[in-house]
Amino acid sequence: MVYSNKEVRSAAKILQQKLERLEDKRAILKAPELGALYDRIKTLPAGKARAEFGQEVNSLKAELEELIRKSLSTKDRKLQPIDVTAPFDVNVPAQQRPKLLTADNGSRHPLMTELTAILDIFARMGFTTVESRELDDDYHMFGSLNFPKDHPARDEYDTFVTDEGLIAPAHTSIMQNRVFKSMPIPIRAVIPGRVFRNEDLDARHEHTFYQLEGVYVDQGINAGHLIATLKAFLEEYYGQTLGVRTQPFYFPFTEPSFEFALSCPFCQKKGCHICSHTGWIELLGCGMIHPNVLKEGGIDPLKYTGFAWGVGIDRLVMMKYGIEDIRHFHSGNLKFLRQFA
Ligand code: DAH
Repeated sequence: MVYSNKEVRSAAKILQQKLERLEDKRAILKAPELGALYDRIKTLPAGKARAEFGQEVNSLKAELEELIRKSLSTKDRKLQPIDVTAPFDVNVPAQQRPKLLTADNGSRHPLMTELTAILDIFARMGFTTVESRELDDDYHMFGSLNFPKDHPARDEYDTFVTDEGLIAPAHTSIMQNRVFKSMPIPIRAVIPGRVFRNEDLDARHEHTFYQLEGVYVDQGINAGHLIATLKAFLEEYYGQTLGVRTQPFYFPFTEPSFEFALSCPFCQKKGCHICSHTGWIELLGCGMIHPNVLKEGGIDPLKYTGFAWGVGIDRLVMMKYGIEDIRHFHSGNLKFLRQFA
């Protein structure tokens, strides 16, 4: 398009050149050259000249929008459906291989969006994030966590083992020993990770799910700190005041150990189908870190104490949105996923 106004003409030329180089073409609509033209309209005295100038600027914008639209549709054309069953030849040059869908065509998985929000809350509470891992050994899965050899407590964590004896971790507690050995005291860390279990699958049990481990070690730490920390986090995450309740439990790596329940955020303890009409929801395991676990991590249990917890991230998110079946998360069902896009 030819513009009669010199200023518009020269801006158009610059903008078209810029557009060619841009990866995300839509960014051109925010270019300062275009903004300056719009600002200029306001400075002109009302009248014919101003109206004509305004029309030319609008035409330029329309032309840019058209160019963006064309570039997106040619991109789409390049992304014809891929036959995922076709044999894939690794010798084919990269340009000729099936292309992955661009980010415009997808969105973040709800579990990852929620995990970011959860880690953000803990970051504000002073916790550092440490990544977990997806293959480990017997020592980190059991030995370092005070599971005696052949102890029946190991059966609770039935998971997948490779022929070489490596383990698909059944919980994020595998990271405790590494964190104790590598971080200076006071230790405040949260550890998200994917975990694996040999489960009978149903609406509440998946073979693969996410956990968030937390550890806090310093002088004079007690169970009151544990409860206050978890309560503060849960109230921030669910955006409401909650009741919390602990019951004695058994984990080899904590003493005492607790099962931690919160008042049902859906019915405020009145009883509903989500809390099985009890008003309470058992949410996570926690406790005071066992002295043997601290010692194994190189920390003197006479000088320091600490607490730890492990919570299912899928569970936290299901509770937030009233999702009734954990299997939705791995289903890849777009109807489910699009509700969170
Ligand atoms: N690892 C436990 C599980 O997956 C959860 C857990 C309980 C983690 C108590 C902890 C803890 O750190 O202190 O069943």
